[in-house]
Amino acid sequence: MDTYSPSRKDARPRMVVGITGASGSILGLRMLAALRALEIESHLVITRAGRLTLHYETGLKPADVAKMADVVHSIDDVGACISSGSYQTLGMVVVPCSMKSLAGIVTGVTDNLLLRAADVVLKERRRLVLVARESPLHLGHLRNMVAATEMGAIVVPPVLAFYNKPETIDDLLDHITGRILDLFGFDTGRVRRWKDDSVA
Ligand SMILES: Cc1cc2nc3c(=O)[nH]c(=O)nc-3n(C[C@H](O)[C@H](O)[C@H](O)COP(=O)(O)O)c2cc1C
Repeated sequence: MDTYSPSRKDARPRMVVGITGASGSILGLRMLAALRALEIESHLVITRAGRLTLHYETGLKPADVAKMADVVHSIDDVGACISSGSYQTLGMVVVPCSMKSLAGIVTGVTDNLLLRAADVVLKERRRLVLVARESPLHLGHLRNMVAATEMGAIVVPPVLAFYNKPETIDDLLDHITGRILDLFGFDTGRVRRWKDDSVA
């Protein structure tokens, strides 16, 4: 009888990236670029509102963004590979994550692929990072963040850091992206860390 032999031993790790209609779509693009640099296979799914906001904020069309991901899934394709727990991924980052998608994830209303993929990541006890963006927050938003945390997700609002002396918007985006990937154990090499002079 054969021993256990991983079928993906030479394959790259995979990560699901969800982009929703919250402001900050540039962060989703930065995440895709960082995953490419780290040689992690990205699986992208964008909500309808996400496409609108992304175009509004960056001028990019879905086809431009598709080039930045390894695999692109339609939001309606609830039968895509990432909708099954048997499809192995490291987890998922929803960046940026709207309050609507946050609510959908918390309530388990999986009526689009992004919500289903997030639900799968939670049920498989993989890492789910929600870069929740809204301001100010009402009690319902806050309660949903508590519920997401109780369910095992990590809520990471894209809050700016200044201890690292950012000089440009790029610096701010690099820091946020790098700190999100820290949560998966990846070092982008672009986080200027407290009391660490190794990054110029
Ligand atoms: C330019 C723009 C910026 C928006 N910013 C936010 C935001 O920061 N947070 C949020 O929760 N919704 C924001 N919205 C509203 C969401 O796009 C809207 O609630 C949408 O239904 C979210 O759907 P989705 O989660 O399926 O993408 C924004 C909409 C637009 C057009």
